[in-house]
Parts: sequence; structure tokens; C-alpha cells
Amino acid sequence: MQKANSLDGSFGNQSVSAAERRQRISLVFRAVAPRYDLMNDLMSFGIHRLWKRKLAARVADVNGIAVDLAGGTGDVARLLIDGGRRVVVCDPSLPMMMAGRLHGDVGLAWLAGEAEKLPLADASVDLLTVAFGLRNATHLETALAEIRRVLKPGGRFVCLEFSRPAAWLAPFYDLYSFLVIPRLGALIAREPQAYQYLVESIRRFPDQLDFAALVQQAGFGDVRWENVSFGIACLHFGRKPDMKTGREGSLPPPPSPGEGATDLSAIGGKVSA
Ligand SMILES: C[S@@+](CC[C@H](N)C(=O)[O-])C[C@H]1O[C@@H](n2cnc3c(N)ncnc32)[C@H](O)[C@@H]1O
Repeated sequence: MQKANSLDGSFGNQSVSAAERRQRISLVFRAVAPRYDLMNDLMSFGIHRLWKRKLAARVADVNGIAVDLAGGTGDVARLLIDGGRRVVVCDPSLPMMMAGRLHGDVGLAWLAGEAEKLPLADASVDLLTVAFGLRNATHLETALAEIRRVLKPGGRFVCLEFSRPAAWLAPFYDLYSFLVIPRLGALIAREPQAYQYLVESIRRFPDQLDFAALVQQAGFGDVRWENVSFGIACLHFGRKPDMKTGREGSLPPPPSPGEGATDLSAIGGKVSA
């Protein structure tokens, strides 16, 4: 298992400086943006949509300001829209957000920003979601500290990320990942290296237990996780402690391996509303 801080010196399986990593990741998403949504549907047979719906269902009770970090083309953000929320997509890639905006204006706000330096005021957000994004951060611990900073006391954090599948599934999943995905990337997106990065970066990200420990170390309470598709991906949950209510939460025992502001003026750097 790779340690989280090994992200900052890597680009997939290659060793690179943190600055080069950041630049190459930015180029990856610039290159794949026009075909990103199509590739997601093809690679996952549409299953990523079920995972994202599950994420949205788990936070259906949270109102106020919701920020979907690393929101890309706005998939998750669209699912978060409901009467009681203002939803903001935050992502460093303008090409990804521009591709998302071509799907139509459904009332989202689009904000340029990186996980490690969120352009958001302290304690201004009720819900922060991130799907398949933290794997691309260069400094994971800094990103988690930033997420905690911008959440209001009692605010909720949910991360959907690829994780470690059940042992029986792992060999098939590996075969599919390394043989099929880069070829699909070559055929459809004409970017095989971008999709090679995808499969390699998945394996560098901390597994269920290690990521939950990082979330807890970052100061979140109510830390838990829920596997989806036998651990191919995983929903991680946390809550920023609220000193007033004394609700701090604690790390529950790990599940079995199988399953497991509201003032918008505080938001700077908006691309468009
Ligand atoms: C795999 S896409 C996920 C997009 C969307 N959340 C989804 O699930 O379809 C990863 C996103 O992370 C963004 N990203 C890359 N580096 C980032 C960073 N340091 N902080 C936040 N987002 C980052 C990319 O621009 C890209 O849009």
C-alpha cells in the first residue's frame, strides 16, 4: 500500500517533482475534457452514475451551501441540486468546467480552485463532496485540512474515490484496468497516457482503512466508509466537529471487507453563476 504523501512525488507510476505532477495532471484533464463524460460511461458501463446517485442520496438531508470539489463537468453537482441548496462546482481545470457547462445551465455556480488552496471562506460551507478528485491532489493532507477549514461546524464531507476491491474481484479488475482502459482511452479519447495515469493513480491512493485514518487525523468526526461495487469504489464520510453541540464523532470499527454561508459573497473567484 502506498502512503498518501507519496502522491506528491509521483505521476501514476513515474517519479516526478510536485510541480511537474501538478502540471501534468492539469494537462491530462485539458486533453480529456471533451470526451471525459463519454469515456466515464464507456469505462464503467454507466455504473459511475449509480455510485454518484448513491453519494447524493446519502446527503439528501443537508441543506445550505454545497461545494462539489474537483467537480469537473458537474456530474455530481447536478445530482445535488434541490430546492434547499446552492451548489458550487470547484475545480482547477477550466476545460473540464467548460465541457460541463455545454450540458446546459442548471443553476450551478462554477468556481476555479484547487483542493490544496480552496478559494472559500472559513466555515462557509454546509456540505463538501468530492468524487474521483482527491487522487489528483498533490498534497492530500493539505487538501483535507482545507476541506475542514471551509466547512461550517457540523458540516458534512463525503468523498467518492476508487479503492481496493474484494480479493476475489481484484484479478479481473486489474486485467480490465490495465488491458482495456488505456486502449479505450486511445480509441475514444485519443489519450492512452491519460488513461494509463488513471489506472496507475487509482493504485497509489490510500485504501479504505488508510484513507479513513487520514480523514480522522485531519480532525473529522463521524468517520466511516461504505464500499460500492465490492470496493471498486468507496464512499467516505466525515463531519466537522461542532463544539457547541459537542458532536465530535469517532472512528467506528472498520466494516467487513466486502461492503461495507451561507453567504455566497464569501465565495471568491467565481467563473460564472
Ligand atoms: C476524474 S475527474 C472527476 C470529475 C468529477 N468529480 C466526476 O466524478 O466525474 C478529476 C477532477 O479533479 C480535478 N483536479 C485535479 N487536480 C486537482 C486538485 N489539486 N484539486 C482539486 N481538483 C483537482 C481535475 O481537474 C478533474 O476535473
